[in-house]
Amino acid sequence: MARKSAGSPPSSVLLLAAVSLLAIVAAESPYRFFDWNVTYGDIYPLGVRQRGILIDGAFPGPDIHCVTNDNLIINVHNSLNEPFLLSWNGMQQRRNSFVDGVYGTTCPIPPGKNYTYILQAKDQIGSFYYFPSLAFHKAAGGFGGIRILSRPGIPVPFADPAGDYTILIGDWYKSNHTDLRARLDGGHKLPLADGILINGRGSGYALTVEPLFVLLLPGKTYRLRISNVGLQNSVNFRIQNHKMKLVEVEGTHTLQTTYSSLDVHLGQSYSVLFTADQPGQDYYIVVSSRWTTPILTTTGVLHYSNSAGPVSGPPPGGPTDQVDWSLNQARSIRTNLTASGPRPNPQGSYHYGMINLTRSIVLANSAGQVNRKQRYAVNSVSFIPADTPLKLADYFKIQGVFKENSISSRPTGGGIYLDTSVLTTDYRTFIEIVFQNNEDIVQSWHLDGYSFWVVGLDGGQWTTASRNQYNLRDAVSRSTTQVYPKSWTAIYIALDNVGMWNLRSEYWARQYLGQQFYLRVFTTSTSLRDEYPIPKNALLCGRAAGRHTRPM
Ligand SMILES: *[C@@H]1O[C@H](CO)[C@@H](O)[C@H](O)[C@H]1NC(C)=O
Ligand SMILES: *[C@@H]1O[C@H](CO)[C@@H](O)[C@H](O)[C@H]1NC(C)=O
Ligand SMILES: *[C@@H]1O[C@H](CO)[C@@H](O)[C@H](O)[C@H]1NC(C)=O
Ligand SMILES: *[C@@H]1O[C@H](CO)[C@@H](O)[C@H](O)[C@H]1NC(C)=O
Ligand SMILES: *[C@@H]1O[C@H](CO)[C@@H](O)[C@H](O)[C@H]1NC(C)=O
Repeated sequence: MARKSAGSPPSSVLLLAAVSLLAIVAAESPYRFFDWNVTYGDIYPLGVRQRGILIDGAFPGPDIHCVTNDNLIINVHNSLNEPFLLSWNGMQQRRNSFVDGVYGTTCPIPPGKNYTYILQAKDQIGSFYYFPSLAFHKAAGGFGGIRILSRPGIPVPFADPAGDYTILIGDWYKSNHTDLRARLDGGHKLPLADGILINGRGSGYALTVEPLFVLLLPGKTYRLRISNVGLQNSVNFRIQNHKMKLVEVEGTHTLQTTYSSLDVHLGQSYSVLFTADQPGQDYYIVVSSRWTTPILTTTGVLHYSNSAGPVSGPPPGGPTDQVDWSLNQARSIRTNLTASGPRPNPQGSYHYGMINLTRSIVLANSAGQVNRKQRYAVNSVSFIPADTPLKLADYFKIQGVFKENSISSRPTGGGIYLDTSVLTTDYRTFIEIVFQNNEDIVQSWHLDGYSFWVVGLDGGQWTTASRNQYNLRDAVSRSTTQVYPKSWTAIYIALDNVGMWNLRSEYWARQYLGQQFYLRVFTTSTSLRDEYPIPKNALLCGRAAGRHTRPM
């Protein structure tokens, strides 16, 4: 299974013209149907047999390829022996947080059952990925790429590449997800990972694991869509003897800056172009962990069609900075204001820097013990699930599942405690969130339902004076941002998507042990223009079981 080649088209995609399931989604946009069986299966990513989670028999799972505004009908059959959910990192699920596929929005698909996600790639372009959101399943696979292409006629700021590949990279353990989960449930941290994978293939066992292999025609330009689907490490991506031109970050066309290597933090996605202008031999693709001892490294091979010889020389080394190189690179990633995004108008026409803030929220992560077990927290609250998805409790007005504002919007400095934390914000406001990281490891934060402007990153404590150094002109708009050790990152968000949205650490053990909460974007309006009603086919569980998704 691990031998499936990168970029192969999903086998189960059917294009049909109409569907009766839904009247709400834009009828004029095409439908794409997927029928996925989620199973356990043997995989050998580091040369040893493991029980992985396969999507339609594949590890990594098949890509979703679609076009802006397409409707995606994804029937997921859970053939595992545990409840299962897929979530869609970076897809915004506009007006429809019910289908976001995380614990707080969507009931798990019970073992042996299936559930059909009805999604729309509304007003989005770019490179994202899906992943299993529950029960540390991500440590067993179940992830795959998502690419949303521009509609015909909307200009893309570069020529069509000769090839377009999904490159899913990240750290990996030889232990299965049930063992890793038991360790976390027992109150322990995870050790350093055992290796790094590129599209499901690792190294260290090079005799048994074929590396990733990409075929190139000399002189042509290729696109790589790189996502870090790992559990706890930032990684650096580079290609021997080739420079990469960054063109897209999580749905934003960037200034086309050239890099010889790129830091990809947990949960992040980047598109780069490179030209096959070094024919004659093969070259390494290298992915290595950042700021770990030892550094974990894996290589793949770029093979030129006219290659006269194999890869040679040592794979190029990565940056060796503490954080400065990485911070400078992060600041250099900016929006091309004149390029189009999902719409024909230029990405710069929103002028986010001219809008007054309605609210400022400061979130500080922390680590500590509760009841002698390892936990992680945001503003001292370590998130614990309730018995009912929060969105369903909100929708059916079921009291006692969560309390609004059960997390402070400023660090409290108090000790860590457990709660089902929800922060309510007002629809159509424009807010600032500052992530303050007083710990000594890099953090990565992701917000579902949105993309936000990363207006500033710097070392030390954020103060209101830090606003003077914000980039209010061409900051990149994305859904996942890193926060360097003992540093802060500030983001601006236009709260234009009603719903219950997970704000989480992408460091998966931290997410699992409480470093997350839900941002409830609320309006009193019940107009369909603001939020869709619950999908007719929504699963109902916990205290929502037995309710009706439509009036009787
Ligand atoms: C899913 O795969 C399992 C194992 O191969 C098989 O038993 C089951 O029938 C499949 N289910 C569907 C819906 O294809
Ligand atoms: C389950 O899958 C079958 C087809 O395999 C489909 O007819 C049915 O609608 C699906 N059920 C749900 C709840 O999605
Ligand atoms: C920005 O996009 C424009 C319009 O597509 C393009 O012509 C230009 O080369 C891009 N500039 C940079 C620096 O990437
Ligand atoms: C995980 O590995 C352990 C051995 O470390 C084994 O006992 C267990 O059955 C495995 N679980 C799964 C789901 O394969
Ligand atoms: C922002 O606030 C300033 C000062 O309160 C005000 O003059 C300005 O008109 C506001 N701008 C917008 C776009 O609302």
